[in-house]
Formats: sequence, structure tokens, C-alpha cells
Amino acid sequence: MKAALISKLEDGNCTKNITVVDDVQKPTRKPKELLIKVLAVATSVGDCHIKSGRCSFVLNPKMPYIPGQDFCGLVEECDEKSAFKVGDIVLANQEDVDKGAIAEYAVAPETHCIQKPLSMTPETCAASLWGVTAQMAVDKARIKAGKTRVLVLGGAGAVGYMTIQFLKARGSAYIATTSTQNEMLLKLGADKVIDYTKEDWWTIREFKNEPFDIIIDTVGGGNHFRKASESGVLKKCMNGGNFIAVTGDDPKPVIKSVWSILKLLFIILGRPIWTLMIFWSVPKYTAFVCLPDAKMLRCLVREIEEHNLKTILDPRCAPYFEFTTEGVQKAFQLQESGHAHGKVVIQVAKLK
Ligand SMILES: NC(=O)c1ccc[n+]([C@@H]2O[C@H](COP(=O)([O-])OP(=O)(O)OC[C@H]3O[C@@H](n4cnc5c(N)ncnc54)[C@H](OP(=O)(O)O)[C@@H]3O)[C@@H](O)[C@H]2O)c1
Repeated sequence: MKAALISKLEDGNCTKNITVVDDVQKPTRKPKELLIKVLAVATSVGDCHIKSGRCSFVLNPKMPYIPGQDFCGLVEECDEKSAFKVGDIVLANQEDVDKGAIAEYAVAPETHCIQKPLSMTPETCAASLWGVTAQMAVDKARIKAGKTRVLVLGGAGAVGYMTIQFLKARGSAYIATTSTQNEMLLKLGADKVIDYTKEDWWTIREFKNEPFDIIIDTVGGGNHFRKASESGVLKKCMNGGNFIAVTGDDPKPVIKSVWSILKLLFIILGRPIWTLMIFWSVPKYTAFVCLPDAKMLRCLVREIEEHNLKTILDPRCAPYFEFTTEGVQKAFQLQESGHAHGKVVIQVAKLK
């Protein structure tokens, strides 16, 4: 079958080791897995983490490997007693880092697949999957309609666009965000967009006068938690202030040893405990790792349909990248740039 292969792990914006070839063996499924004819794949920051080799201690694919974890396609084979049937169109998430979906066929466990909603195309469907992270962050924010004021750091990324829409749908009293994409974000529901290339959010007088209840950080790095704590832009924990880290202190984490895992766990688990212990002087710190399963995907799709939320594809995909070496390389370059505005999608096959 035709598939994209990555032959060498490499950090940075290098894509010369990605090629689309014709002679890859079609995957075989195990019981409780679906064999899926792929229609569309969305790339993600996670795909770039794998490709970079920075996290090789935990994400170490066998070379060469097929990238692409989030996809939509037609069921070609399934168990006799499966909840799915041949010909169903499914939204799927592949956890196995070796066996991605930028290929004619891919397998995925049934527990990570749901039926494609009628309202979505295969491309928007694959792209919407990343929304589970946004939904999880907004769940943790416990929005009180008409009361909760939220600042989203990085509104225009795939997570950011969905976060703004979930916040609006759940009735946040005020939504500010940092981004260069002013027009789109106001349209999606933000009340104020701060161009982070011109203004620092932690210095804005208006925010200090009326501090936020929640900051959701999708950018990471930049000592954001410390800036939020010390500037007075975010309420203290005892007054309900919560800093939700979608991305942690390092947006490009290096996990190459047990020590680096322990350091990461210390921040993810230790800082929340520490902030609760000194609740009068700092905001709460919340970090999480989102591993989507079918239940989460169903919940996501339900909220997207109920509130008619938009899945935004980066306009530079125009509208999708092609399933060619050049197309896949361009998709990875855009994803790796850290400046994608929405999801990056590769159309593998057209739905007939
Ligand atoms: N916790 C989890 O389980 C989980 C799950 C999924 C994703 N994540 C993390 O979530 C983060 C966001 O993912 P994504 O898919 O949304 O990324 P993305 O689509 O690549 O988004 C990048 C966005 O960040 C914006 N940006 C860059 N620097 C900025 C800054 N200093 N201030 C404000 N905006 C800035 C860029 O806008 P401009 O072009 O305007 O700069 C771009 O729109 C990633 O770090 C990813 O690893 C975490």
C-alpha cells in the first residue's frame, strides 16, 4: 500500500526524511481492532514530538515508521460481533506510535473509534479529534455561566480555537486571549485579543484591576505560571484562581531518561499539591495529559454538534495537503513551525 514513512528521527523543521512510498505492507488487525481505509489524517504537535526524537525514552517508534495518530476512514474489516460494520465511517485515534495513519490503511482499537457524525466531513472529523484536549481543559475550569473570567494563552492554535468556543458555549463571563489572529478569535467568541508580539498580558492594568478566575495556557514555557502568580492578573487559589497548563514549562520537552520523567512528574503532580498547600499566596496549578478514548470522543462530538462549534483548518492547507511526499512534508513543516492557525490536514482518499 501507499504510506508516508519517516526513516530517521530528527529535531527541528527538517522533513527530508519523510517520503511517501508505494510498497508498504498493508497492516493486519488483531481481534477488537478495526482495519480502516484512511480518508483523512490530521497532524498534531504530538506527531512532531515523536518525529523529533526528543521524547525517545517514551515515544520510540521502530524505523521506518508511519506517522499520523488522528484520522477518519472507512471500516474495511472488523470482528463479527463488533459494534461497527464494514462500510462505517469512523473517527479514530491510534495510540501505537509505529503504526500511524498517513497511509492507505491503518488499524485502530475499537475502544478508540466512534462513528463519524453526519454533520462532519472526514477532514473536519479527523481535525476535530484534538478538541478533546480543549474540552478537558475547559472541564477543569468549572465555568460558572456569566461569572467566570478566563484568559487563554495562545488562542489561534488547534487547542486554542476549540477552547475559546467551548468557553463561549458554556457561558464564560469574559474571554481574553493572546494571539496574532484578532479577527477570527473575536468571531469565535473572544471578548478581547491581545497581540502578544506588541503587549505583555501580565502587565495589562485592566487585568490587574479585575483578575481572571482561570488562565488556560496552550503555549507553555515563558514562566507563565510565575508571571500569572506575581503580576496579580490571576486570582489566588483561595479566591478560586486556577492556572490550567495544557502545555507545561517546556513546550518541547526532552524525555530521554528516567530522571527527565521524574522531573516532569514532579511538576505535573508536585506543583498542584504545593499550590494547594500555600493556597493564600498563589493560584492553583492544574496540569493534565489527555489520552482520548471512544467515550471522550463521543462527548466531544456531542458538544460540537449541540453548539455548532467550528473545526478550523489552517488556511495554508488550502483546504488540505495532498497525500504525496511534498504534501506530507509541507504538513509537517507547518505543524512544526509552532504557528499553525487551526488544524493541519492531509486528504488521503476522497469519500465517494
Ligand atoms: N496536555 C495534553 O494532553 C495536550 C494534548 C494536546 C496538545 N497539548 C499541547 O497543547 C499545545 C498547543 O497545541 P496546538 O495543537 O494548539 O498547537 P498549534 O496548533 O501548533 O498552535 C500553535 C499556536 O500557538 C500560537 N503561539 C505561538 N507562540 C505564542 C505566544 N507566545 N503567545 C500566544 N500564542 C502563541 C501560534 O499563533 P501565532 O502564529 O499567532 O504565533 C499558533 O496559533 C502544544 O504544546 C501541545 O503539546 C497538550
